[in-house]
Amino acid sequence: MRSWPEVEAYLEHCKGVIIPLGSTEQHGPTGAIGTDALTAEAIALEVGRRTGVLVTPAQAFGMAEHHLGFAGTMSLQPATLLAVLHDLVLSLARHGFERVFVINGHGGNIATTRAAFAQAHGTAASRDLPVASKLRCRLSNWFMAGPVMREARDLYGDKEGHHATPSEIAVTLQLEPTLVRKQRPLPDPAPAGPIHGPEDFRRRHPHGRMGSHPSLATAEQGASLINTAASALSEELCRFLSET
Ligand code: NI
Repeated sequence: MRSWPEVEAYLEHCKGVIIPLGSTEQHGPTGAIGTDALTAEAIALEVGRRTGVLVTPAQAFGMAEHHLGFAGTMSLQPATLLAVLHDLVLSLARHGFERVFVINGHGGNIATTRAAFAQAHGTAASRDLPVASKLRCRLSNWFMAGPVMREARDLYGDKEGHHATPSEIAVTLQLEPTLVRKQRPLPDPAPAGPIHGPEDFRRRHPHGRMGSHPSLATAEQGASLINTAASALSEELCRFLSET
């Protein structure tokens, strides 16, 4: 937690900032609805501790239209998420932040986040913000970092799947021990398939999982994955901050 004078003082020596971006959506029959927000925030805070870079509060809602067939999912339409991210980047740019590093926990946010960055660059230029020419935005999907994907493959093989994956569930078990009680063996997962609307998603994937075996997850694996993700993303962030 910081006061505004602390943020102003921070800007005198660093122009970088991390925004954790999640989603609030079903994660299979045993995973927390808040999985993507929980994981993105925890990894962002760990990257912040390691690098000294400021971390904003998490944006816990993302683009999860295809998960709306399951209770508890709360989705922003792509245009809404685009507007939210655009406005957040512009707010930061106005105060002199030049490097915005979004740590994302949800694949459904990727296309919209990239569109928001493009829009933010255009707006910064058209408003003649002093940082406009130096503004850089980077999307980093923690679950797609090379070392994380290798570790997930070593741990779970093809049972990692694409949604409600054991790697993300493992991270939540480490962060929130009460979730361990919800875990139970599940039958073989539905195969991964295309993503259309929410009704089609529920028909293809009645559990909400996509090709994944979340019951393989343990808290110990989660601790290791957080460490692996924080290492990889801290390195990526440091390179990003030093880019011209
Ligand atoms: Ni997820």
